[in-house]
Amino acid sequence: MSASVYVETFGCQMNVADSERAGVRLRAAGFDLTKTPDNADVVIFNTCSVRERAAHKVFTRIGEIRRMRLGNEPAMGVMGCVAQLEGAALFDNSPSVNLVVGTRATDRLPQLIERALKGEPRVLDLDERAETDKWDIPATARTSKYVAFVPIIEGCNKFCTYCIVPYSRGREKSRAAFEILDEVNALRDHGYREIHLIGQNVNSYRPKTDAGLDLFRGATPFCRLLRAVAATGIERIKFTTSFPRDFHPDIVAAINEYENLCNWIHLPVQSGSDRILRQMRRGHTVSDYLRRVEAIKNSQRQIAITSDIIVGFPDETAADFSATMKLVSDVNYHGLYIFKYSERPGTPAAKLDDNVTRGEKAERFMKLEEIQRKNQEQIYQSFVGREIKVLSERASSKSDEDITRHSTCHKVINFPRRSIDLGQVATIRVTDAKPISHYGEVLAAA
Ligand code: SAH
Ligand code: SF4
Ligand code: F3S
Repeated sequence: MSASVYVETFGCQMNVADSERAGVRLRAAGFDLTKTPDNADVVIFNTCSVRERAAHKVFTRIGEIRRMRLGNEPAMGVMGCVAQLEGAALFDNSPSVNLVVGTRATDRLPQLIERALKGEPRVLDLDERAETDKWDIPATARTSKYVAFVPIIEGCNKFCTYCIVPYSRGREKSRAAFEILDEVNALRDHGYREIHLIGQNVNSYRPKTDAGLDLFRGATPFCRLLRAVAATGIERIKFTTSFPRDFHPDIVAAINEYENLCNWIHLPVQSGSDRILRQMRRGHTVSDYLRRVEAIKNSQRQIAITSDIIVGFPDETAADFSATMKLVSDVNYHGLYIFKYSERPGTPAAKLDDNVTRGEKAERFMKLEEIQRKNQEQIYQSFVGREIKVLSERASSKSDEDITRHSTCHKVINFPRRSIDLGQVATIRVTDAKPISHYGEVLAAA
């Protein structure tokens, strides 16, 4: 097949990794990949369903492409979480869609596209991954040349009551450690300087065999994997997301032992009220969570903690919300993502009355944002005068003039563009702090 395919990605890092993998399979099957949808024969959207607004985005984009390509319409496909959840209903709701590809059908995309191009009107695949499917993506096929996402576990068994992910991604499935290590070694040899181990809950990692971990100790398989990945010597290692209930303090011990395990932990708490946490079925209380935070703060390194919060979960009272504000102040997060509760069809929470009004949700969102802004300003101020190491990853999505750069603790740092090249790691002295970024001068780069 010599047709051209354009893939547009929404949602989390898992989707980015899946789109990379789709690209590899498509090129291997002889397809061309294009950077814009303007002339592509096939347009594929890799979708997210985590909140209502995210799920709607694909329908807006389908309409836009249809109008843009009037008279010369491409074959259109939906893959990812919306595809898995909506299945064949997508064909009825969006007649321009000819292809629906579930979250575990990525490796079969080339054959599915071929069927659509041959004129089959409704090509659907919501099946599991085949046992023989490989998760590897060659270093040459990555979106970024310097930072690579390495999936270690996919799916989720936690079933937090508000969340659609267990339904869209299926059960937890861990990748064999030796396979992960081979990939990390290859990335290192290829010049990659930073990797992110990714998964809905990385610290729930449980491979079927020990192969690859034999030489490494640790309280849990994830702790052993962290040490094994660190021992490859790759320069910077980050990992997201950590599930609080499965967060073992030995993770902190591993970070203390290996400099290349970065000093950043994303540990979403969702709420500061035990009553709401129970309703969310998170499996931890506020004090359980704070114990984990304590262990992280007791590290000999300064580890940045970031989190996610949902405001306006059903029945969240003013007192529940005050408890969340207190927790956010107490922990003093280096970064916080705040979301307004969004009812997802089919989840247990969807049976509850979504009774916190839009106005109240907006107000709570703003109040929390204000607390976080003040905390963060102080934290960022405390970095002025300090030296930190940053990696220039890619051109900024906002401006061609800028490069996106992150510190080991995952903060954004700005400095005059020409001082370092893409892919370089620079030592920066922070000269000024903005609410969500630092400004600095380059002392050395390599
Ligand atoms: N696996 C991760 C995150 C998954 S989704 C974890 O367990 O924390 C990313 C974030 O989206 C979640 O942390 C949560 O804050 C938010 N989110 C998930 N479902 C949501 C919903 N129905 N409404 C609003 N926010 C939601
Ligand atoms: Fe969703 Fe909870 Fe699983 Fe995270 S742990 S993906 S919030 S169900
Ligand atoms: Fe969205 Fe699916 Fe990721 S719902 S957040 S793309 S797992």
